[in-house]
Amino acid sequence: MRKMKRPLILEAIKKYAYRDVARFHMPGHKGLEEYAEIFHGAETDITELSFSGNLSAGKGLIRDAEEQIAKTLGAYSSHIVTDGSTAAIFAMVYAASLRGSKLIIPRISHKSVYNALKIFRMEPVFLPTYEKNGMIVQDVNSIGKLLNREKKAAGVLLVSPDYYGNVPFLEIAAEETRKKGKLLLVDSAHGGHLKFSAPHLYAGEFADAWVDGVHKTLPSLTQAAVLSVNDEDLEEDITEGLSLFRTTSPSYPIMASAEFGVLFAEWVNIDGFRRVFDLADKLLEGAAGRKYVFVKTADRCKLLLDCPASGLDAEALVKYLEKRGVYAEFSDGRYVVFMLSVLNVKEDFDKLRKTLIAYRRTKFKKADNDGKRPFSDFTPVRAVTYTEAVNAPYDLVEAINAGGRIAADNFGFFPPCYPVITAGEVFTEELAEALVKADNSFGVRDKRLKVVRERL
Ligand SMILES: Cc1ncc(COP(=O)(O)O)c(C=O)c1O
Repeated sequence: MRKMKRPLILEAIKKYAYRDVARFHMPGHKGLEEYAEIFHGAETDITELSFSGNLSAGKGLIRDAEEQIAKTLGAYSSHIVTDGSTAAIFAMVYAASLRGSKLIIPRISHKSVYNALKIFRMEPVFLPTYEKNGMIVQDVNSIGKLLNREKKAAGVLLVSPDYYGNVPFLEIAAEETRKKGKLLLVDSAHGGHLKFSAPHLYAGEFADAWVDGVHKTLPSLTQAAVLSVNDEDLEEDITEGLSLFRTTSPSYPIMASAEFGVLFAEWVNIDGFRRVFDLADKLLEGAAGRKYVFVKTADRCKLLLDCPASGLDAEALVKYLEKRGVYAEFSDGRYVVFMLSVLNVKEDFDKLRKTLIAYRRTKFKKADNDGKRPFSDFTPVRAVTYTEAVNAPYDLVEAINAGGRIAADNFGFFPPCYPVITAGEVFTEELAEALVKADNSFGVRDKRLKVVRERL
């Protein structure tokens, strides 16, 4: 049988963890057993020592591990990130900001993208989207036209896969950006597994730079991410971008887990994923007979249970599942999204199947709405640019006073966390009230909304 490559960081820190040493170095828990029990992994939580390299300096053990990751992913270079995909997105947007003052993004971009635009004073140009099965999906066909129109655009930053597993046609996007000499950046926070489960969908096949949020779909610790580059000319700026935002005290367990996650996925490869997909397919076959309607998207690691189409109230179903030990990733009121990884076992699927079957035998709450996202048909009207709005003096106002005022921040309903209204667009009173009333809205501060101060 083929052997998995040796995870360099993990081996080094494990070796150190089990040696009997007096630790006169950070962190303060000193790797003592009792802390190891409380904070799982504390034995391996070390700092930069003579043998353990340096993430910021890009040398030694960490650099070797990054080179091994890059080779495994087929990238020009890869960078381990311990501050989530967020820090990697900041680094990518920084690199873009050196090449133009605008960036083409879909409205469904993660908040880190909007925050990075704010920091680098870049203007978003929104990529057209369309609705598919109640989800907003990216339409890459107009990228060429947008790039012709927006001369100041540094390029495009797409999300692939999105929160539901939709994957835009990256090939088309890459063709257009390459033709115009612009950047194609990809937020692949949900796509770290695709290199090994569906390589034709993998961001690294098309993008100039992309982030794999390995902690989301590979066996890596929370916050582990890998930012990779295909374009040699970007390397310097990406490295600098990372150094602006990353911690100078990176967690060794997180770094080790980032490397481990990638190597593990390569090792199990498509056969490992096929095992999970076969289990998922069996579940879906059985579910169809029980009137459970699942929707498939390109990323097979996402299973979407369409609750209204199944005649079920999403919230009540989620409560029932959780009481019986089945936790989904999220529910948006229509879809309950189950996120699979290569480590899911048959028992997980059996438990889900049995619980779904049992639920049909209860007096379950039926769907009493179509599960539409609130304000999904809201047509935003822009009054000032995004950059102007996020940098303007502002007021915090109650909903009743927000109608007609210009948003100074981004607001919406989660999950997932993408905005209905972005900075620079005009509030309606109805939207303002719904945002303040909802307990799943974001952007609202203490029942008040941040709006651009009116000039007197
Ligand atoms: C699409 C997308 N991009 C980026 C991020 C940020 O990732 P992280 O939480 O690892 O910083 C998330 C997190 O949920 C996400 O869903």
